[in-house]
Amino acid sequence: MAWLTAERKHKLGFLTHKGTVQLETARLILRPFRVSDAEEMFGNWASDTRVTKYLLWRAHESVGETRSVLEYWQRRYQKKDFYEWGIILKETGELIGSAGASKTHDPTCWDAGYCIGYRWWGKGICTEALAELLQFLFREVGCRRVTAMHAIENPASGRVMEKCGMIRRPGDSVPVNTENGLYNCRVYELTREQYELQNVYFPTK
Ligand SMILES: CC(C)(COP(=O)(O)OP(=O)(O)OC[C@H]1O[C@@H](n2cnc3c(N)ncnc32)[C@H](O)[C@@H]1OP(=O)(O)O)[C@@H](O)C(=O)NCCC(=O)NCCS
Repeated sequence: MAWLTAERKHKLGFLTHKGTVQLETARLILRPFRVSDAEEMFGNWASDTRVTKYLLWRAHESVGETRSVLEYWQRRYQKKDFYEWGIILKETGELIGSAGASKTHDPTCWDAGYCIGYRWWGKGICTEALAELLQFLFREVGCRRVTAMHAIENPASGRVMEKCGMIRRPGDSVPVNTENGLYNCRVYELTREQYELQNVYFPTK
């Protein structure tokens, strides 16, 4: 398949997985996590129940727990289809959150997720990170569709999806079992065609 250009492969529905490569936006650097990020990740968001309340995982109780997750991710970074970025605020160099994308039952569709520390909420940061993720997944990887979901009780996350041009899937909410309880979630999605039509993304440099 080497004789096909990336653009042609994407048109034919093939994905070109690149792994968690470094990405950049106006205010942020998105980069792979390192094990040495454990203390900052634990202190800035992973131990905070305000942040983890609607996530799939429970707040960490020790830096060691965070370190174990980061060690596991180091192994998973060997796979080109593993996407988990740390969000760095360029201005201060702080590690303030994470953004990622995971497989769905449809190999051409990936599911996006994100979170940032409480101190940085309401500054448009997750919107900026998700916009960059969408650009990467559609234009670099060649995904045909990206989905994201949020607990109904967590409308700020749905607003992030809307600001990035994602469209709420009609129909009922879906129940999602998390380590923090069962939540009814709204599903948002965006196809590559819709994305290109809207051309919604932030300047990356
Ligand atoms: C939800 C979260 C991702 C938002 O990130 P953020 O960087 O603060 O988001 P932004 O600043 O880009 O945008 C937030 C939007 O939600 C809106 N918002 C905030 N609280 C809201 C509420 N209770 N109801 C409706 N909208 C709300 C804000 O006004 C803003 O929209 P606007 O720009 O139109 O005013 C962040 O708070 C977070 O990390 N929460 C914990 C983890 C989490 O819930 N992750 C998502 C799991 S699906």
